[in-house]
Order: sequence, then C-alpha cells, then structure tokens
Amino acid sequence: MAMNTLNVNKQSWDEVAHRFYGRNPLPEYGPLAPNEEDLNLFGDVKGLKILEIGCGSGHSLNYLDSKNARELWGLDFSKTQIGAAKELLEKAKTPIKLFESPMEENPGIPIDCFDIVFSIYALGWTADLNRTVRNVHSYLKQGGVFIFSWEHPLYNRVKNDGDIVMITKSYHEEGPYDHEAWGHPAIMQQFRLSTYINTLIENGFTIEKVVEDACLSEADIERHSNSWYCYEKAQYLPTTLIIKARKL
Ligand SMILES: C[S@@+](CC[C@H](N)C(=O)[O-])C[C@H]1O[C@@H](n2cnc3c(N)ncnc32)[C@H](O)[C@@H]1O
Repeated sequence: MAMNTLNVNKQSWDEVAHRFYGRNPLPEYGPLAPNEEDLNLFGDVKGLKILEIGCGSGHSLNYLDSKNARELWGLDFSKTQIGAAKELLEKAKTPIKLFESPMEENPGIPIDCFDIVFSIYALGWTADLNRTVRNVHSYLKQGGVFIFSWEHPLYNRVKNDGDIVMITKSYHEEGPYDHEAWGHPAIMQQFRLSTYINTLIENGFTIEKVVEDACLSEADIERHSNSWYCYEKAQYLPTTLIIKARKL
C-alpha cells in the first residue's frame, strides 16, 4: 500500500479540515447533485447499524442521528476531523463509535455486522481502491448496502472558460496525481467510472443504482457560484457520481 500517500494526505487533511467543516454532508451527496431526500437510497434506517468511511467532521452521522438508527460508526484518518466529529456528536442520542484510521485498514471494525456502509466525498482519496472496497464488503452483513458519492471522474478532466468547456486531461489516465488547490501537498487518485463499478463487482457487490444527475436550481447555482463546482461546468457534466451497491 502507498504509505507515503497516506502520510502526506493525513497531514494535509489535519491542516485543511477546518475549511471543510460541515461542507455538503448528508442529506447532500455533493454540490449541485441530488440529495438523499430526492433519492431515498438509505430508506428507513430505524434500528440499523451504519458505518461511515471518511466521516470527516461527523455532519453526515449527525444527520443520521435524527433518524433512529441503532448504532452509528465512523472512520477517518485525520486526528483533527475525528476530534471535530467527537465534539459535534457529543450529545447524540444514538450510540456512536469513531476510529482514527485509514480506510485501507481495519482498525477493529466488526465484520459481517453492518446494514449500511456509506461514504460521502471520501472514497476517491483511497490509496488502494480494491483494498478499501474489500474492507467495506467485509463489514457488511449479507444483503447490506454500500452507498457512496464522489466527484464524477469526468469532472476534473474538463476546465471551463465562462460557458466554454474544454477537455484538458485524458479520461483514460488513472492513478495518483498532485492535488494543487490547497497550498498543502496532497495526492489524489483518478479512477474511471468503470473502475469503480468493476472493483465493486469483483469484490462481491451487485450494483443497484448509479446516479449522475445534476441539480441546477437557482438557489444551488447561487450557492456554488465561482467555486470549483460551478453551473458553467455542471450544465454540461455531473459534478458527482453516486453509487448504491449490495453485498451478495
Ligand atoms: C470531504 S471529507 C468528507 C466529509 C464527510 N464525509 C461528511 O459527510 O461530512 C473527506 C474525508 O476523507 C478523509 N480521508 C481522506 N483519505 C482518507 C483515507 N485514506 N482514510 C481515511 N480517511 C480519509 C479526510 O480526512 C476527510 O475527512
């Protein structure tokens, strides 16, 4: 496994965590994308055991706390993020367990145990997609579901100049690349849509839903104007990929 990538990224996330505090958590799946209230991928979570991969500041778990789940678990490799999540969830009514750990490793999470494992804008950071998906599969009960959202793999291949969009990188290229936007070194991964889907299938999942829709209401457009996820690009291609898969 790429330990250097994990060390570099962990340090960066500890530094930038405050900038992402509570950004686009559930019920949102991502900017300018449909949300859980539109899609209902989780269904009724009453009495379910749920685990989040890359839980960040804990805002998605906080949303689920109001839905009467039986147990909520979260994992994130950033000390700062886990600290923020602990603080946010201090008064949660659902039992909560948080782990500071990379998603590529199992820090003691029980196997064949969860009804739902989910991840909001974190999976694509993994230094080893196959290993992470294998872990997720092991945590789920048979018939359990894995729901994740991530930046659509086409989105960073395209740049815009006003309303004109240009393909600036090959969609065929996969693997690590330097993420330059933060001013802190970070190594991101590029995977094609087919790689996400085939990795799920090869690890024993069946795909139930793939969502590539854009939500371009005036309020959404206003909220994201001038950001990386802007209307000028999103009118042509989705910002966000959402997949629901089930453990066979
Ligand atoms: C955009 S945030 C996700 C926020 C969170 N899912 C929410 O809904 O509020 C991405 C998170 O992934 C975590 N992360 C990145 N790479 C990771 C890895 N390899 N293992 C565990 N966590 C990782 C970061 O620390 C960060 O908290």
